[in-house]
Amino acid sequence: MGHRKPMVAGNWKMNLDRAAAVALARAVAEGAAGLAREVECAVCPPFVYLEAVRAAMAPVDAASRPALGAQDLWHEANGAFTGEVSASMLLDCGATIVLTGHSERRHVLGEGDELVAKKTRAALAAGLRCIVCVGELLDERERGETDRVNERQVRAALQGLGSAALGRTIIAYEPVWAIGTGRTATPADAQQAHERIRRVVSSMFGAEQAEIMPILYGGSVKPDNARGLFDQPDIDGGLIGGASLKAADFLAIVAAARRG
Ligand code: PGA
Repeated sequence: MGHRKPMVAGNWKMNLDRAAAVALARAVAEGAAGLAREVECAVCPPFVYLEAVRAAMAPVDAASRPALGAQDLWHEANGAFTGEVSASMLLDCGATIVLTGHSERRHVLGEGDELVAKKTRAALAAGLRCIVCVGELLDERERGETDRVNERQVRAALQGLGSAALGRTIIAYEPVWAIGTGRTATPADAQQAHERIRRVVSSMFGAEQAEIMPILYGGSVKPDNARGLFDQPDIDGGLIGGASLKAADFLAIVAAARRG
């Protein structure tokens, strides 16, 4: 972990029902409040539960409450895009952060670099913070293409962003073969990928910008492996799927992201 403020974000994916989402949000908000100074926390429920989760977290004071995030958005402001949700709608529901380019969007739903870039730009232009997810498939890793894939995805998503937008941008490196599989990158492998990603950001926007850009790791982060990952100098926290669905596990991961 470098000098950047660590962040741990929960990606609930298409899980839970309203009652379970509310209960989880309440437990996470209460449990994470005491750590808010040291670790930034976010939860990303399904769209339909954003407002219920917002209400569930409202009793915790704003300064120590987890950020409310969405898992995706559509890049147009409004119009005939059946089934889609815009950045302004997310803001309207109280979301301040959104994921783009999650591997399930890329590889299950078929989103390419160009669409991910449009969504990222739209989110940032609307004033949302954006967690841009990148990462290689198993066969890409086996062919030695990890860094090339990460570089292509980072360049496509971040190209042309101005400093205000970059200040709201977070990268999440999630090797696809480690997502939901119980296989985690070793801390050393993850650190190497993060360090290279930071170099890409540096070559695009300069060393100073690269130094302040948070880069989270995602892919089977659990309470027992979080510390080893977060101890790496270029790993600034985590994007957590499965383990974010249990308050105790998620809070243990948030605690593991504290410095020192
Ligand atoms: P996982 O998911 O923690 O269940 O591997 C991470 C993610 O997809 O963001």
